[in-house]
Amino acid sequence: MKIFRIALVLMLVCVFTSVASEARPSQNVIDFMNVLNGVFTNKKQVDDEIAQNSSVRHELSVFTFLPVVVPAFGETPVIWLRQIYAYMFEQQLLVVKETDDGNILITPYHFTKNLYKGSRLYDLKIYKDLTEDDFTYIEDCNIVFTRVASDFYVGHWPDCVDRTQPDNKLNVTCNVLTIEVTSSESPEYGLEPYYHELEGNKFPLPPFLSDIDKTKVCS
Ligand SMILES: *[C@@H]1O[C@H](CO)[C@@H](O)[C@H](O)[C@H]1NC(C)=O
Ligand SMILES: *[C@@H]1O[C@H](CO)[C@@H](O)[C@H](O)[C@H]1NC(C)=O
Repeated sequence: MKIFRIALVLMLVCVFTSVASEARPSQNVIDFMNVLNGVFTNKKQVDDEIAQNSSVRHELSVFTFLPVVVPAFGETPVIWLRQIYAYMFEQQLLVVKETDDGNILITPYHFTKNLYKGSRLYDLKIYKDLTEDDFTYIEDCNIVFTRVASDFYVGHWPDCVDRTQPDNKLNVTCNVLTIEVTSSESPEYGLEPYYHELEGNKFPLPPFLSDIDKTKVCS
């Protein structure tokens, strides 16, 4: 289940566009920021498979979705995503917007390599000082989520590097994130979906969002 690939190919398509937006985030966007939020891990799934000596084994996968304030993106909501998958570590910034037809559109931004040095990587304070030079994005690699209930979104997440691959399918609720690998090329094709459960509490939204949050989904 590779949602991300560490690929130097990115260098080819590195352009920064300003995503700062005048529009106030909608309640749908704020609700989404509350749902796709927190630390989700499939630790129980992995442990159960070991305990049962199952012939099916999932890799350990841990996602952290943390809402952050990044002035370079203005008041457009941003989620800092870290993924640990098997022996791989990857992080991105996810810029969250709503489309005209009410879907959630995420644009993933990668960090340029100057951020990959030492302990700065883990220092949240660096986000307020980031400038355009610190990001790259992959053109036309959009992640789309559709709302199916007040606290349930279904998403398609493409492999942004190998465009021939079909999207991974994600279902996210307040407490569970499932990911289904839909690529028949993948060795994990046909495997039961990855089943991640929320670990601990949701993260608070930045004040500019929580102040206008009328529904407080997931709290
Ligand atoms: C686990 O399963 C494998 C075959 O799938 C078998 O060879 C092995 O003996 C099993 N181990 C235990 C502890 O049951
Ligand atoms: C995800 O949600 C869709 C739509 O409700 C459902 O058909 C599908 O079975 C769900 N997948 C998983 C892995 O829960």
